[in-house]
Amino acid sequence: MSEPATQAPLLELDAVDTYYGQIHILQSLSLSIRAGELVCLLGGNASGKSTTLKTILGIVRPRNGAVRIDGEDVTKRATSYRIGRGLAIVPENRRLFAPMTVLENLEMGAYLRGGPSKEDFARVYDLFPLLHDRRSQLAGTLSGGEQQMVAMGRALMSRPKLLLMDEPSMGLAPILVERNFEIIKQVHESGVAMLIVEQNANVSLSIADRGYVLSTGRLVLEGPAADLRENEELRKAYLGR
Ligand SMILES: Nc1ncnc2c1ncn2[C@@H]1O[C@H](COP(=O)(O)OP(=O)(O)OP(=O)(O)O)[C@@H](O)[C@H]1O
Ligand SMILES: [Mg+2]
Repeated sequence: MSEPATQAPLLELDAVDTYYGQIHILQSLSLSIRAGELVCLLGGNASGKSTTLKTILGIVRPRNGAVRIDGEDVTKRATSYRIGRGLAIVPENRRLFAPMTVLENLEMGAYLRGGPSKEDFARVYDLFPLLHDRRSQLAGTLSGGEQQMVAMGRALMSRPKLLLMDEPSMGLAPILVERNFEIIKQVHESGVAMLIVEQNANVSLSIADRGYVLSTGRLVLEGPAADLRENEELRKAYLGR
């Protein structure tokens, strides 16, 4: 890596405890992502994956611990501020604006940054030529795979430094999962750091640099993706081997 080791990570969760009311979900969770890295966060249902993303974005606030972006403590900052610092999300189930066109959905992605530029559209259409062909179609009428492209394109319209993705493979046929992860890899190679939340450990570890494994709100494993792929416990629990 070309950066000095002393440079702060792009994103850091430092021992966060996140609650919903009295229910303690994330338990002293620490993780970090450096510029340009592709990191996956694995775990079964209800392990706290989406809650981790909500904590990063400030949709829920941790009771203890800190969230830092580029070394700046943003724990008490609003979601909009964090997005302004370079975060974007492709949410669970995509959450498109169904009665709006593909083009309007993409425009919304650049809204917080002050509106889209020609270059923003060009970059997204270059990555997803199909979205250009379908720009006038209502998002709600697209197939699942196409909607995933719109959701990713919309997130990229804000030129994020770190893209958060919540279960991009959910609800997609295996062939589309593979295609989708090829696109994720391509976006990553264009210089965007990514945190991918997934239950599909196989496919995410095949493209990730590093991974974390959550179980009931605690980290139980972390390391280079290559090591996790060989980990016996993980193989038994998630990789079906
Ligand atoms: N708003 C909420 N209020 C109360 N409990 C919640 C809330 N949101 C989530 N939870 C609970 O927190 C726990 C973790 O949920 P979370 O959505 O983070 O899991 P997940 O790992 O993303 O699961 P999945 O793979 O099913 O999406 C679950 O037990 C869930 O019921
Ligand atoms: Mg979830």
